[in-house]
Amino acid sequence: GNTPNGGPSSLQFPELRHQLSQRDAVAEGHEIQVVIRWGDPILPDAPEHDPHNPSAEAQSRQFGYNNDYLDFFPLPQGSRSSERGLLVVNHEYTNTNLMFPGLGTGPEARRRLTAQHAAIERAAMGLSVVEVRRQDNRWSYVKDSRWNRRITVETPMRISGPAAGHARMKTAEDPTGTRVRGTMNNCAGGNTPWGTVLTCEENFNMYFGGEAAVSGAQAAAYKRYGIQKEPVYGWHRFDARWNLDATPNEPNRFGWVVEFDPHDPESVPVKRTALGRFKHECCTHAVNPDGRVVFYSGDDERFDYVYKFVTAKPWNPQDRAANRDLLDEGTLYVAKFEANGTLRWLPLVQGQGPLTAANGFASQGDVVIEARRAADLLGATPMDRPEDVETNPVNGRVYVMLTNNGNRTAEKVDAANPRARNIHGHVLEIIPPGAGTARVDHAAEEARWGIFLAAGKPGLDPGAQYHRATSEQGWLSCPDNCAFDSKGRIWIATDGAPEAAGVADGLYAADTAGHGRGLTRLFYQAPTGAEVCGPRFTPDDRTIFLAIQHPGEEAGSTFERPSTRWPDFREGAPPRPSVIAIVRKDGGTVS
Ligand code: FEO
Ligand code: CA
Ligand code: CA
Ligand code: CA
Repeated sequence: GNTPNGGPSSLQFPELRHQLSQRDAVAEGHEIQVVIRWGDPILPDAPEHDPHNPSAEAQSRQFGYNNDYLDFFPLPQGSRSSERGLLVVNHEYTNTNLMFPGLGTGPEARRRLTAQHAAIERAAMGLSVVEVRRQDNRWSYVKDSRWNRRITVETPMRISGPAAGHARMKTAEDPTGTRVRGTMNNCAGGNTPWGTVLTCEENFNMYFGGEAAVSGAQAAAYKRYGIQKEPVYGWHRFDARWNLDATPNEPNRFGWVVEFDPHDPESVPVKRTALGRFKHECCTHAVNPDGRVVFYSGDDERFDYVYKFVTAKPWNPQDRAANRDLLDEGTLYVAKFEANGTLRWLPLVQGQGPLTAANGFASQGDVVIEARRAADLLGATPMDRPEDVETNPVNGRVYVMLTNNGNRTAEKVDAANPRARNIHGHVLEIIPPGAGTARVDHAAEEARWGIFLAAGKPGLDPGAQYHRATSEQGWLSCPDNCAFDSKGRIWIATDGAPEAAGVADGLYAADTAGHGRGLTRLFYQAPTGAEVCGPRFTPDDRTIFLAIQHPGEEAGSTFERPSTRWPDFREGAPPRPSVIAIVRKDGGTVS
């Protein structure tokens, strides 16, 4: 049908107008509800948020900073409830100058950081699990739920899979190479059919530093992961764990996919090394007709790759415990996008092709620890920063958010990354064999691919490519995360929209089939400085949860003088990254 704004989209909401504002906005007829904010107490005896007197002890019992990935696990477990559930939230990183009073701005602010600040940052990262409920069409979190949990950069975890116990995983603190404290830079994620969470470690490199980055035995390997002598954050100045000269193997223990059970607050998270070590943006699954489970993951770096992991065995829907170690055995693949529209999945298997001992791959442990270098040798296609990769439940196609790559030159363009200086990004569509039928073969080693849209402003940015009815409001920049509603429409969250064009980051929706295919429309606009993350629908499509990350992250913005005080707008207080719920005022489906 035609929308209120005209055009052949199946989406019913009236389109929002592009604008920059300290406040956020949503399409008419809908309501924004703040569910939980940085610093809100979630564990017993947690103090109320007091940004003027921060402490690691308080922060480790409160909701963390910079919420990114969101998941919703209905309660009771296994039900399809859209009224009650566990919200699982990644806390990716910290904005030092907005989080702490008196630091000022820019690199200077980081040089003023103390060991105490660093300890608070470690407590503010990781994840939160928190029970949420909807009553009278209004969402709130449950302060004293028995499921509420904080996972931080100090939480004890296990390491499993091919890299567990590897010599390069061992440290003085953990001579077994099988135990590690914490997870960090948890960006996007995913879940499993057996009800566990997969949280992904992305920009871990920013926290390690030392002379060994340039002169040590692992200098080349560090470099491939962006580890520097003088990193952005200064933890290595206070703590030997982050100092490469004291603890050279610690960075090898990050960059993994971490699995845990949100229904058991005592469960020990496990780093599943079979899925490879890189800057995992996400790890989302599709179940293959034969019961094997396929996990898609992007490595978010300019000129890095798209991966998938296929379990060796089918999952067992009857016995949850039987799936406990399913992620330790399977095949990791990297994508090669050929110009003729064929996608080849190349296996990263020790002993095959160039992945030999002579090339430094003596075991599968070596392959997964240096997955990037292994993929380089296989000739994978360097992409424009792969972020979220998600499967559309209706058409079985897989959508890859390629957020941007300003460094791609005209000499380096290829069919899958066709624009030089790609500052707006694009969305690529993978079509596995059987897509559109009930039997989609996600495990196949070949698929077809095409470009779903190329972002930027139509008529202004060369190569921008949308549905021709896309309005002045509907164009987007820097796709990062996405979700699908139960009708198979794509909802795209952005990170990095051009302020110069008067555009904030936001959430856009489009059909993926029919006359409105690729016709993006603006649904939600974030407060200034923020990106939009984690779009997640409840099973009934009546609520969409969004993680509003780094509000006020702009040049010159500080704790004392932030560019926005969203969402509280309390004088003297900084902005707070928060999870919001968007519902329709009449209680209907968001559509
Ligand atoms: Fe943390 Fe790739 O965004
Ligand atoms: Ca982010
Ligand atoms: Ca992201
Ligand atoms: Ca991003």
